[in-house]
Amino acid sequence: MKTPIIPTWNSVSLTTRMWLLLMISALASPVLADTKAAPEALKVEADDFYCMLDMTPVRGFYVDNLIEGKLEDTLKVANAEQGEYPPGSVVQLVPTEVMVKHPKGFNAATKDWEFFELSVSKDGSEIEKRGFVDVVNRFGGNCFACHIKAKPEFDLICETGHGCDPLPLPASVFTLLQKTDARCGGRYTPTQEEIEILKNLSAPRS
Ligand code: HEC
Repeated sequence: MKTPIIPTWNSVSLTTRMWLLLMISALASPVLADTKAAPEALKVEADDFYCMLDMTPVRGFYVDNLIEGKLEDTLKVANAEQGEYPPGSVVQLVPTEVMVKHPKGFNAATKDWEFFELSVSKDGSEIEKRGFVDVVNRFGGNCFACHIKAKPEFDLICETGHGCDPLPLPASVFTLLQKTDARCGGRYTPTQEEIEILKNLSAPRS
């Protein structure tokens, strides 16, 4: 049989083949090492959310961290009122709207925050909607569109004076919604007036 000018894979000896494979993998490895895998999403489920009053209060909103032992890191940023929240951070102002921080680099547009719209009852939480730039709350407002207006040092946390358009509700209504979180086992009995306020909030808006 005639030896081909350009050797085919089968025409070279086994030893040469092994050397070739080794060289290819050695050359390729720095390239492979450079393409860092995107960070994995944190696993977040309905059970991760619970009675808001059992979370840690900070200036009217509440925080937690889904990663064991990391609540202190979240509190450090929350208490400083600026800075980048660590992965695992959970932030809530009202029982049904939550922001959760994923590992750095997971979603550049939302600075790794995922937005959740929950429904809550005495049996716990259900996730109605979740996502990044496209979650819309029950009033038709896009979470991201409002929260991205916070100045960069606030990491999408609006509070008041951070650059977001204000919500048309007084702080007392947020406190009332927190105290009457259906998952808290009826710890607080609202007055008749407060029941009316709550009814008006849940009335459909046109
Ligand atoms: C119309 C704009 C707007 C929309 C839409 C909106 N938010 Fe907010 N959100 C705000 C503002 C403003 C505050 C601060 C209110 C305050 O403290 O007085 C806030 C507060 C919060 C907080 C407490 C931390 C903070 O930023 O102050 C969380 C968590 C939150 N919103 C999550 C959500 C989620 C999740 C959605 C969507 C399901 C959503 N928001 C939709 C404007 C908005």
